[in-house]
Amino acid sequence: MAGVSMVPAVWAAVMTLGAVFSVVEGAGIGVNWGILSSHPLRPNIVVKLLKDNGIKKVKLFDSDAWTVSSLSGSKIETIIGIPNDQLKKFAKSYDDAKDWVKENVTSHMFEGGVDLRYVSVGNEAFLTAYNGSFVKVTFPAMQNIQKAIDAAGHGKKIKVTTALNADVYESSTNLPSDGEFRPDIYSTMKDIVHFLDRNKAPFMVNIYPFLSLYQNPNFPLDYAFFDGGGKATNDKDKSYTNVFDANYDTLIWSLKKLGVSDMKIIVGEVGWPTDGNKFANVNLAKRFYDGLFKKLASGDGTPMRPKEKFEVYLFGLLDEDMKSVLPGFFERHWGIFQFDGKPKFPMDSSGKGNDKMLVAAKGVQYLEKKWCVLKKNVKVFDNISPQVDYACSLSDCTSLGYGSSCNNLDRRGNISYAFNMYYQMQDQSVEACVFNGSAEIVKNNASVGSCLFPIQIVSAGERLKAAAAAMVGLVLSLFALRL
Ligand SMILES: *[C@@H]1O[C@H](CO)[C@@H](O)[C@H](O)[C@H]1NC(C)=O
Ligand SMILES: *[C@@H]1O[C@H](CO)[C@@H](O)[C@H](O)[C@H]1NC(C)=O
Ligand SMILES: *[C@@H]1O[C@H](CO)[C@@H](O)[C@H](O)[C@H]1NC(C)=O
Ligand SMILES: *[C@@H]1O[C@H](CO)[C@@H](O)[C@H](O)[C@H]1NC(C)=O
Ligand SMILES: *[C@@H]1O[C@H](CO)[C@@H](O)[C@H](O)[C@H]1NC(C)=O
Repeated sequence: MAGVSMVPAVWAAVMTLGAVFSVVEGAGIGVNWGILSSHPLRPNIVVKLLKDNGIKKVKLFDSDAWTVSSLSGSKIETIIGIPNDQLKKFAKSYDDAKDWVKENVTSHMFEGGVDLRYVSVGNEAFLTAYNGSFVKVTFPAMQNIQKAIDAAGHGKKIKVTTALNADVYESSTNLPSDGEFRPDIYSTMKDIVHFLDRNKAPFMVNIYPFLSLYQNPNFPLDYAFFDGGGKATNDKDKSYTNVFDANYDTLIWSLKKLGVSDMKIIVGEVGWPTDGNKFANVNLAKRFYDGLFKKLASGDGTPMRPKEKFEVYLFGLLDEDMKSVLPGFFERHWGIFQFDGKPKFPMDSSGKGNDKMLVAAKGVQYLEKKWCVLKKNVKVFDNISPQVDYACSLSDCTSLGYGSSCNNLDRRGNISYAFNMYYQMQDQSVEACVFNGSAEIVKNNASVGSCLFPIQIVSAGERLKAAAAAMVGLVLSLFALRL
C-alpha cells in the first residue's frame, strides 16, 4: 500500500512542520529523474527537491557518476540504468560487466553512500520500434551484470531487472485473462521471467494510459482515469473500470502462463504529460494523478491482486526539452515539475484530500529577464518562415502545436515564440537574436495568456550537459536505425 499509516505523534509533527515536510507521502511512490535537457538542473538541487517533497525513491536511466553520487547520504532508494546501446558490450564480456559494477555500483556502496536497489539493464529494449535490435543481447547482459554484482558481494541487496514497455505482452481480445507475452519475444521473455524469479527480482513495466488514449481514437476517455466514469469491462468474474488495472492484470496473466504467480511488480513509469497534445494538459494530468494517488492510498490492488502493495515511479520529475519528439510533441512535457523545478499544479500524493503545491526547487539560477521577439515594425512575415523553422529545429517549439498551451497565438506571436526559444536555448547570446534583422531583445515579459515564454536557467555545467547530449545522441541514433 502506498498510503502511509502514521502514528499520531508523527502525524502531529508533520502538521507542525507544514508544507516542507513529506509532500509526496506515499511509501511506494518514486519518480524518474531523466536528464535529456539542454539545461539540466544541478544534481544537488534536484536531490534537495526530492527531499523537500518527501520523495524517497528515484529511478535514473544511466549511472552518471556526478548524478548518482549526489544521492550519497540522502537515504533515497535508487534504481540506476544501463542504456540500450551498451547491452551488446555486457552481453559479450563478463570482464566489462565486472568493470561496470566496480565503477558504477561498488564505488557507491559505503556507509552513508548511495542506497542502490536495482539496476535496470536496458530501457524498453523490446519496443517494436527498435526492430529486434536488443532482443538477443538483453538477457545475457542482465546475467553478466547480476553475476558481477553477486561476485562483488552486493547480490542480496541489489537486483538486476529490465524496465520494459507494456507492449511486451498483449491480449488478442483485450481481456486480461487472454494476456500473453508477445510471440516474437516469447522465448526471451520466458528466460528473463524465470531468471528474475530465481533471483527474487521484480518485473519492471511501464504503463501509460495516456498512450492508450493517444494512440487509439476510439479509446473511451474515462477508461484512462481511475474515477470509474466509463463503462466497465468484464473478464470472467472480474470487472475492470480503468485501463491501468486491466493492463497490470494482463501482465499477471502473462506471468501466470509461464508458471509464475507471485512475482513482485514495479511500475517503472506511470504519469501524464501536460502539454504538446489535446489530451496533454494540466487538467487531465491532475485528474490522472488524483485518481492514481487515491488508488495507492486506498490499499486496493487490482482484480487479480486485490491486496497489491504497488510500487510506482512517476514519469517524470522534470520536463526534458531534448527528448525525441518522434512519439509525439507531448514527450517533452511529462514532468510533475517544469524544466526549472517549478511545480505545475497542486497534487495530493497522500490520496486523502490534502491538495497542495509541491515545493519548488531551491537555488535555481536564471538568466536575465530578457526575451527575443519579432520587431514591432516588421509588418510582412512572408519570408520569415525559414527563420522560424531554423529556430524551432534547434530549440523546442512543441508548445505551439495543435491543442497545446501556445496554439492560439497569432502569427506574430508564433514567430516571437520561436525566436525566444532559440535565444534562450543559446543562453541569450546576442547573436542568437538577429534573424536577419527582424528580431529584437526586450525586457518586458513576452508571455501571452497561458502561453509561457520561458527564461532559461544557468546550465549545470558542461559535464552534465555532455552526459545529456550523449544520451540524446543515443536515442536519436536508435530511432535513425529504423527510419
Ligand atoms: C559507468 O557508467 C557510466 C555512465 O553510464 C559509463 O559512462 C561508464 O563507462 C561506466 N563504467 C564502466 C567501467 O563501464
Ligand atoms: C502558429 O503555429 C502553429 C504551429 O505551427 C500553427 O498550428 C498555427 O496555425 C500558427 N498560427 C498562426 C496564426 O499562424
Ligand atoms: C535577409 O534579408 C535580405 C534582405 O531583406 C534577403 O535578401 C535575404 O534573403 C534574407 N535572408 C534570409 C536567410 O532570410
Ligand atoms: C512572465 O509571465 C508569465 C505569465 O504571466 C509568468 O508565469 C512568468 O513567471 C513571467 N516570467 C518572468 C520571468 O517573470
Ligand atoms: C528490421 O530488421 C530486418 C532484419 O534485420 C531488416 O531486414 C529490416 O529492414 C529492418 N526494418 C527496419 C524498419 O529497420
